[in-house]
Amino acid sequence: MTKLQNAIVGGVRAVLGHVPASWLPGGTPDPLIDKRVALGRQQARVDGPDKVRGAAQFAAEVPMEDLLYAAFVHSTIARGNITDLDVSAAEAAPGVALVMTYRNAPKLGVPPTVGLTNLKAAGNHTLPIMQDPEVRWNGQVVAVVLAETREQADHAATLVRVRYDSAPARTRFEEGKNSAYTPESILVERNRLDKGDARRKLAEAAFKVDAVYKTPWENHNPIEPHAATIVWRDGKLIVHDATQMINATAGSLAKVFGLKADEVHVSSPYVGGGFGAKAMWDHQILGAAAAKLAGRPVRVTLSRASMHRLVGGRMRTEQRVALGADAEGRLKALLHHGYGVKPRHSVCDEGFSLTGRSLYASESFDVVQHYVDLDLLANSFMRGPGETPGTFAIECAMDELAHALGMDPIELRRRNAATRDPVSGAPHSQNAMMEAYDLGAARIGWSRRAAEPGSRREGEWRIGMGCASGTFPFTRMPGTSARITIDGNGDAHVASAAHEMGMGTATVQRQHAADRLGLPLDRVTVTIGDSSLPFAGLAGGSSQTASLAAAISAASGKLAVQLMRLAGNDTPLAGLKPSEVEFADGGLRSVDDPARHESFTSILRRAGRSELSVIGESGAPLEILKFSMHSTSAIFCELRVSDVTGEIRVDRLVGAFDCGRILNAKTAASQFKGGMIMGLGMALTEETLLDERTGRIMSTSLADYHVPVHLDVPDIDVLWTDIPDPRAPLGARGIGEIGTTGVAAAIANAVFNATGKRLRDLPLTLDKLI
Ligand code: MOS
Repeated sequence: MTKLQNAIVGGVRAVLGHVPASWLPGGTPDPLIDKRVALGRQQARVDGPDKVRGAAQFAAEVPMEDLLYAAFVHSTIARGNITDLDVSAAEAAPGVALVMTYRNAPKLGVPPTVGLTNLKAAGNHTLPIMQDPEVRWNGQVVAVVLAETREQADHAATLVRVRYDSAPARTRFEEGKNSAYTPESILVERNRLDKGDARRKLAEAAFKVDAVYKTPWENHNPIEPHAATIVWRDGKLIVHDATQMINATAGSLAKVFGLKADEVHVSSPYVGGGFGAKAMWDHQILGAAAAKLAGRPVRVTLSRASMHRLVGGRMRTEQRVALGADAEGRLKALLHHGYGVKPRHSVCDEGFSLTGRSLYASESFDVVQHYVDLDLLANSFMRGPGETPGTFAIECAMDELAHALGMDPIELRRRNAATRDPVSGAPHSQNAMMEAYDLGAARIGWSRRAAEPGSRREGEWRIGMGCASGTFPFTRMPGTSARITIDGNGDAHVASAAHEMGMGTATVQRQHAADRLGLPLDRVTVTIGDSSLPFAGLAGGSSQTASLAAAISAASGKLAVQLMRLAGNDTPLAGLKPSEVEFADGGLRSVDDPARHESFTSILRRAGRSELSVIGESGAPLEILKFSMHSTSAIFCELRVSDVTGEIRVDRLVGAFDCGRILNAKTAASQFKGGMIMGLGMALTEETLLDERTGRIMSTSLADYHVPVHLDVPDIDVLWTDIPDPRAPLGARGIGEIGTTGVAAAIANAVFNATGKRLRDLPLTLDKLI
């Protein structure tokens, strides 16, 4: 966030530019890029049968004796103070155990916030939680009701009477823009980018487009609502949570309640969808505080309304993109300026302006983003943060430029394809976005697209096709660790406090560990989802697979060393260095002479050991500062727009992805499709409706906030280049976030192709088309 951070990152980057690649992580390509047996195959999820049978236990399903259920009362003003609180009727209601407000809540610290420097921090805002009468957003929790049943708690919550002394609140976007603030950095990047005199080059360009694109506030709606089952036992806090940051939640709760690290235990074996939302919000803290007050276990399951009021969503953005090109379509200038709503108490960046810095080889850049500080709920990360709204603006602008040039939009992208990072000059680790375009164009039948907008029609329907690029940077979390244990039978057991949100974490790492250790799949187990396991960073930013892969890989190196030590001299491997052996056939063998082999079982037996455990860790991700590492995609859409009603029907979506090697076709395809469906929702229906007079969210149910349903979702084809990234563990970059990026632009571009109408304001509702 600071100038200091910019200086440090800039300095490290400059130094790494001169350091030989072989000194860095990823300097030597992972041998498993090519030597794969289980990896790359389609494997069903290891937790699939348990989930289908209902045996997989989610946070709100953990049985517990003497349980109380929580319901929340939310403030109805955006700013001010509580003057009067009458909880007597609620307390007297059937089944109510207690009502907690700022008057009787225990002292609660402010949790350390999610960020780059503290891996044990999970806080999403910096405001005090139920410590005083002050209200800072419309929807803030002002009372927690605990009762014997959920229904009793919900009923009693309606009986709490609150009076406020309202203060003037800032809730209007247009007004907020006038006092917007400009951060020094966005995530690890410097915010302001001014390279090559972009304004002059834009003015002089033969062809240009210059427009403003708008994306709305969006709320998270995973199938599983945020939930936690919480109990205090012997002074220790035990939380069964639905979270994509297990260790960070445990660490933060310890700070909030003044506990030692080992006095908080967080378990979260299954999460029903995260997407950036399953983090620590006020509900775990309030639930734990209320449980402490009541001396009984508490279950918090957020209603959809509570989710919308206390779990942040994707910030609203307004982005100006101006592109200048020469007569051949080569980009001379790229300007990207914009506003996003990020209250000062918010901590999550939405780096929409980072998108255009890596995609195309422009001669010059003028990029900066500003934040609008309003009295609203803190925003959060949401699938493809930054690049999801960013690609809407950049990729619609590219389509507008192609139209202005009279050029095929794929050809325009081909002419501007970056061969290295256009800003830093860093080499790509691997990039084949144009091959993704070729794959996707062939699959959708791009040659059928009419160049002239509005020229294809079937009855009342106008037909169109569009395309857009997607992109998301690679990252790897430092500090993620994994333990490998080899037991007396020679089987391997991998353990880490990593997360399963439906993406197949254990499934894929089991494939990985099997190949890494030369074992068949059925001799490997993977245990995740509990803070007592070796430390793992958060599952976010599409980084968990790479982080965990790096940790398992490091652990396997240590395992070889330890096994060779145990093997001693009385072994066929005697005299070999650890670097001269490899894992194969349930043991170690000489790289040069495969006949020299000893099994794990034999080594352990001779050493009198029943098992051997080692822990490895994912180190600092220096490779991302030396190489330009981005997953990319080409998204295609074919749709119909009704002349009569303006209704849009998406008939086909094709996503062609260039994300390095794909580790499991089944879980990867489902990640990509899920992401694309979120992009479809963003394009057509999703929008958090805010009453700007009061700061009150109006759309707090799935009846008001529209996510795509089955009838909205077309045939979705996903394809991938499957070209290994030599700098990434397993040759694989992230695949979680990128599915959503580019989709809304591809759809908006197809609407233009169908109708000749250019919509720059999401969602693309029918009123905008008639
Ligand atoms: Mo990522 S924002 O956790 O989908």
